[in-house]
Amino acid sequence: MPRASAWFVRSAFLYLLVGFSLGALLLFYKGTGFLPQVWRLLPAHAEVLLMAWLVQLAMGVGYWILPRPGGKRGGAALVWVVFGVFNAGVWLAVAGQVMGLPLLTWLGRLGELVAVVLFVAHAWRRLRV
Ligand code: HEM
Repeated sequence: MPRASAWFVRSAFLYLLVGFSLGALLLFYKGTGFLPQVWRLLPAHAEVLLMAWLVQLAMGVGYWILPRPGGKRGGAALVWVVFGVFNAGVWLAVAGQVMGLPLLTWLGRLGELVAVVLFVAHAWRRLRV
């Protein structure tokens, strides 16, 4: 497995842990009514599990496993840029949602989108039948 894929997958697993823990806190609040401010973490729970866990896992495994035309994956530098921009985007989006700053959330979402588009541009070239 290439080093970049290992980082994507490790990072995805960390977010899985964070996302499930947030989900447990939300359930705790729903069950007990204690700590109502926990409910503000609902969008962070969705962002972390849908984007940082699922999308990041797909990109990490995809970079590793997609066909290698000519025996090369290519795009080694690009994929690190994707890793950095995507994770920065997740943090900004979560911070924006928790702090109630929509501009920050949209900036984060833009980062996530740019990262995914860059990844698809890389992966597309490798798709041969
Ligand atoms: C891959 C796994 C998961 C995904 C993709 C996921 C995603 C979501 C999404 C999209 C929402 C709705 C957010 C909204 O309404 O804005 C949600 C709500 C919620 N999730 Fe998860 N979730 C996952 C796992 C879990 C786990 C493991 C727990 C508990 C330990 C949990 C607890 C909750 C709770 C309590 C809510 C609020 C439900 C309500 O509106 O009453 N989730 N989740």
